[in-house]
Amino acid sequence: MKVLLVGRLEGYVSTAAKIALDKGAKVVAYEEARDALQALRDGLTTDIILLDLKCDIKSFSKSLQAERFSIPIIACGVATSAEEAAASIRAGAKEYIPFPPDPELIAAVLTAVCEEDLTLLTQDPVMLKWVRMADKIAPSEANVLITGESGTGKEVMARYIHQKSKRKDKNFVSVNCAAIPENLLESELFGHEKGAFTGAVARRIGKFEESSGGTLLLDEISEMDPRLQAKLLRALQEKQIDRVGGSHPVNVDTRVIATSNRDLNDAIAKGEFREDLYFRLNVVNVHLPPLRERRNDIELLAKHFLQKFIKLNAVAPKTFSQDALNAIKEQPWRGNVRELQNIVHRALLLSPSNVITIDDLGIPSLTTTATHIAQGEGGSILIGKTVAEVEKELILGTLGHCLGNRTHASHILGISIRTLRNKLKEYEETMKNKVAHSV
Ligand SMILES: Nc1ncnc2c1ncn2[C@@H]1O[C@H](COP(=O)(O)OP(=O)(O)OP(=O)(O)O)[C@@H](O)[C@H]1O
Ligand SMILES: [Mg+2]
Repeated sequence: MKVLLVGRLEGYVSTAAKIALDKGAKVVAYEEARDALQALRDGLTTDIILLDLKCDIKSFSKSLQAERFSIPIIACGVATSAEEAAASIRAGAKEYIPFPPDPELIAAVLTAVCEEDLTLLTQDPVMLKWVRMADKIAPSEANVLITGESGTGKEVMARYIHQKSKRKDKNFVSVNCAAIPENLLESELFGHEKGAFTGAVARRIGKFEESSGGTLLLDEISEMDPRLQAKLLRALQEKQIDRVGGSHPVNVDTRVIATSNRDLNDAIAKGEFREDLYFRLNVVNVHLPPLRERRNDIELLAKHFLQKFIKLNAVAPKTFSQDALNAIKEQPWRGNVRELQNIVHRALLLSPSNVITIDDLGIPSLTTTATHIAQGEGGSILIGKTVAEVEKELILGTLGHCLGNRTHASHILGISIRTLRNKLKEYEETMKNKVAHSV
């Protein structure tokens, strides 16, 4: 994971940087917001920006938006009041971390906002077959399409292929086509020239150029709109891209790995995905089986995640009870590896003793289907509620479970991040209207 620190942070820059480095992050720091902004335009990549409260968060966040960057800002610093912290959130920050920096808090925020530790673990024969195939094709220059249900490890596999390729010492850059609003995606991929649109105050290098020589991961490619699909096709065919507002093409040497959890043939049949682009991307297809079809991996992964979160949260060691482990092995894991990871993390934090029991796992026990239908998670009675009410409860509950991380929540819910965003907006509007009525 890459972290960009911006500001003087009251002399805490080195402490914060050290904590992030200890957590395995790569850190770049700038004292001045304008220098950080210029570095981003020049192609610096980062997963997250830790911005000093003393900087003008609103104007920084506006600049990012205007120049079509989509990077979460975490405000941090020594706030004299809660009001100041709250103001930072209103100004566009996603989270606020008080200083002096607390290692546990920084670690928690870093993991909630993005994921690191992307080593591929497996011992299941079905999965090992795909890993061997990945080993074989990694050194070639072929584009790769990785398919599989949400949370099966497509990004982990993409990084694995990059690591095993001749490009491993160059950039691995990833773009989530579903998470970035349509109107920002073109600049994100291809960059733009100064003056290309209102807000384009300087040239910006896009992800294609940034990953030149290396690998570009296009996550959830099925969500890209057809107009951009045409531009992507050109980039793959000609190895040339056009920056938005640019007057001449730029050569790029990028290997593309795309992922999809939708059946692209289905999308092609519906006219939502270009067939010619599909053939360009699908030179090699690596298909990741759902976790329930490689049960030999479940125990290995559960134990790995337990150790990982013990270390990350700096808590006393814990183990699973035999019953808990058996229940874990029997679950259908519709959210795949990601769901398993979340459940293990939650159980570790919730379990009162050093043995994690079935109850700590909080997964509905394998009782009759009838009780499943009648009861929601946590046992709330569903009968008598409207579908919309139940949906809202489920969405907000899942979001809470994912510490507010929308990408994870949408994966677990099996809906697109766009749908989730729209639903949340809807709930917010209803809330506002209710408040307006009661005033
Ligand atoms: N084989 C594996 N070994 C270790 N960790 C894994 C493995 N597969 C997945 N994970 C972990 O599970 C989580 C989900 O993996 P990843 O993000 O690669 O899934 P994905 O298929 O890209 O999901 P989505 O479709 O939702 O984007 C990550 O935190 C990743 O580190
Ligand atoms: Mg992914």
